[in-house]
Amino acid sequence: MERIKTGIPGFDSLIEGGFPKGRIMLVSGATGTGKTIFSMQFLYNGAQKFNEPGVYVTLDERPALIREDCLRFGWDLKKLESENKLCIIDGSIAKIGMPSEEEFSLPTTGFDIDKVLLETIRTIKRINAKRVIIDSIPALGFNFENEQDVRKAVLKLAYLLTRAGVTSIMTSEIEEGEAKFSKYGVEEYTADGVIMLHYLGIGTQSTRHLLIRKMRATKHSEEIHPIQISDTGITVKKIEDEYSNV
Ligand SMILES: Nc1ncnc2c1ncn2[C@@H]1O[C@H](COP(=O)(O)OP(=O)(O)OP(=O)(O)O)[C@@H](O)[C@H]1O
Ligand SMILES: [Mg+2]
Repeated sequence: MERIKTGIPGFDSLIEGGFPKGRIMLVSGATGTGKTIFSMQFLYNGAQKFNEPGVYVTLDERPALIREDCLRFGWDLKKLESENKLCIIDGSIAKIGMPSEEEFSLPTTGFDIDKVLLETIRTIKRINAKRVIIDSIPALGFNFENEQDVRKAVLKLAYLLTRAGVTSIMTSEIEEGEAKFSKYGVEEYTADGVIMLHYLGIGTQSTRHLLIRKMRATKHSEEIHPIQISDTGITVKKIEDEYSNV
């Protein structure tokens, strides 16, 4: 099986070298756990280091702010965008019926999943993308009334992305400490891989952790891994490294 390297330090070796090609991953966690950074690091590395163009569909955060945040990590998204190696589709503002100033955005009238998918597939073809991020699924659920609709929408999304041949990440949210894998409880069944990000408070300290909860067709790490967000992005560690100097 072909593996798609994330290039996230310490991560690929935990999953036999990378994500299974053409599959869809779920990255889930509470707010501020690093879902957006993890996803963007996968996309940025693809475009910058592995010659794999990427599409980022943002439904929560505005593209201008994402670009600004990423510059902190030394990731110049604007440059990759100008070279057609990366494309950000702005759905953040269409969702509330406002026009976007972005080159690629969703129509403001009747925001729905089909429009998001249509624009995503079009953009994948245009830049020959190999990697796609949908950030986030709960933001898509904006207009959904019941769980059945969400399940259908997520299945459709996964089907179309798989058919397009891209390796993708969707993000979802849980409440801090909640014993769930995703917002609707359906995303994890559709995904081929599930990566949970946690922010644990122990005493006066809080530390970030990553757990690979599922990765189809892969012998993956079953440990809880400490992660660090620094000026170069996310680094995944082994628990023994974290305590090696104690
Ligand atoms: N340069 C940096 N150095 C260290 N930590 C940082 C840096 N930039 C961001 N962070 C940390 O990453 C967090 C944001 O991560 P991210 O946006 O990926 O979270 P998220 O899980 O997508 O959150 P949300 O649910 O709000 O979308 C910040 O709250 C901060 O703790
Ligand atoms: Mg986010």
